[in-house]
Amino acid sequence: MQSIKEKIQSVANSQDLEKLKVEVVGKKGILTLAFADLKNLNGEAKQSRAKELNLFKQDFEALFEAKKGEIRTLELAQKLQEENIDVSLFVGQRRGKEHYVNLMIEKIIDYFIALNFELCEGGLVEDDFHNFEALNIPKFHPARDMQDTFYTQDGKLLRTHTSPVQIHVMKKKTPPLKIIAPGAVFRRDYDLTHSPMFHQVEGLVVDSYGKVGFSHLKLILEDFLKYIFGDIVVRFRSSFFPFTEPSAEVDISCVFCKGDGCRVCSHTGWLEVLGCGIVNHAVFESVGYKDVSGYAFGLGVERFAMLYYGINDLRSFFEADLRVIG
Ligand code: PHE
Repeated sequence: MQSIKEKIQSVANSQDLEKLKVEVVGKKGILTLAFADLKNLNGEAKQSRAKELNLFKQDFEALFEAKKGEIRTLELAQKLQEENIDVSLFVGQRRGKEHYVNLMIEKIIDYFIALNFELCEGGLVEDDFHNFEALNIPKFHPARDMQDTFYTQDGKLLRTHTSPVQIHVMKKKTPPLKIIAPGAVFRRDYDLTHSPMFHQVEGLVVDSYGKVGFSHLKLILEDFLKYIFGDIVVRFRSSFFPFTEPSAEVDISCVFCKGDGCRVCSHTGWLEVLGCGIVNHAVFESVGYKDVSGYAFGLGVERFAMLYYGINDLRSFFEADLRVIG
């Protein structure tokens, strides 16, 4: 027994332990054979030998179990050690970053929040009234062609601009108000500079009649565009939107060629960046506002982001180009 005990102590892995078990209690194990030999004994001798063997067996089993537990713990620790993955190992992955469109929206919003504008959001699915009618774009008005629309089967539509947020806000609140409304818009368009889904930021300021005018609009937009693009020249060009009168489109001197003329600005030296104007009274009438005046503006976020971050294909914002979205 002593030698078996020593053997068990010196075993270092589960295979050797199993082997030892076979040597002792296996078919031809020493203990099995010893039990078989009992048949050659009689009386007292047989009884005391049997007792001795049973005690030995009990001892062996206890030792065996103890050792088995010990080895299992050891082997588990070893396995964990071997399979340990060094997560700190640098294998050159890139870090993710926020999407340029979101970064640009944040940057734009920051400016207006600092001026106490309220952040508003509208839904993506609109009805004809909010997207067109209330904005002074009646049915069959040619201005609807400017915004080729996705219609849903139940007669609703995907908003073609963020201007319907103006209507929702004015229906809910009483003037004065200053709001900024960022979000996705949809038009049936797809090429180098158009995507069927893109983002706009809408601005609307309304106060009592005569309190806000074009000079305020001009001042704030000039300052805003210089905040975004830095050292540029801003120009207002007369234009048309059904919901503003008078209306203007705003250009900045080309950020790439500084106004000398290049491919990006079609050799004009100017880049068109937003639309704006004094809110048309027809719009105020459709929401029941009286004795107020206001201004509104709307800009395309992707266009801003392309000019600001120097990205030349609008579509790469929405495709798997990791240089842009990664
Ligand atoms: N909604 C206009 C567009 O999508 C932009 C705009 C907003 C113009 C507000 C004037 C005032 O083109």
